[in-house]
Amino acid sequence: MSQDEQKRRSAQAAMRYVEDGAVIGVGTGSTVNRFIPLLAERKHDIEGAVSSSEASTALLKQYGIRVLELNSTGDLPVYIDGADECDPHFRLIKGGGAALTREKIVAGASRKFVCLIDDSKRVDLLGAFPLPIEVIPMARSFVARQIVKLGGQPVLREGVLTDNGCQILDVHGMRITHPEQLERDLNQVPGVVTVGLFALRKADVVICNGTEL
Ligand code: 5RP
Repeated sequence: MSQDEQKRRSAQAAMRYVEDGAVIGVGTGSTVNRFIPLLAERKHDIEGAVSSSEASTALLKQYGIRVLELNSTGDLPVYIDGADECDPHFRLIKGGGAALTREKIVAGASRKFVCLIDDSKRVDLLGAFPLPIEVIPMARSFVARQIVKLGGQPVLREGVLTDNGCQILDVHGMRITHPEQLERDLNQVPGVVTVGLFALRKADVVICNGTEL
């Protein structure tokens, strides 16, 4: 089965977590882009959506789904998003689409994080996918030097500015044996806005290829 079809099936399966009257947290990426049209079929049943990126906001609005501000909703019942890697404990690498900061905020504000993946995202050990780290631009080189000390090889994602006006370092060569500890360590580096490790707030439910793991 194609990767595209796997993503479509996962998006379809996520619809069972959409409850009447709820505000739905919506992630970013090609998998979520398959979920949004399905959500639109229920747009009169839900109160609206909180978006994790300008790109998803535009698509939600295009489909006539009301977009709400997290500041006015309080916590959300469910957040639905994709991932770049997922380990057996549902710890994730995210940020391939540069939306990691708002994704982590909305995931943190949600009681249930439903993650949609295809077979290519399943790994035993996180880190083959370069770990995205969003950084304040003036701190970029300083942060990069700290990452080298931690054993990674940071590469600036050229030509990319995040929705928050920041830059992305993609960190290669990390064998992430202790994701929670690495997330904490990287969070301590001044100038780091967000680490694309979702280990401290991991997924609660993972749907791969339409099937719950
Ligand atoms: C965006 C993300 C995405 O969830 C991740 O990159 C997966 O994307 P896709 O669904 O296109 O494979 O973290 O920042």
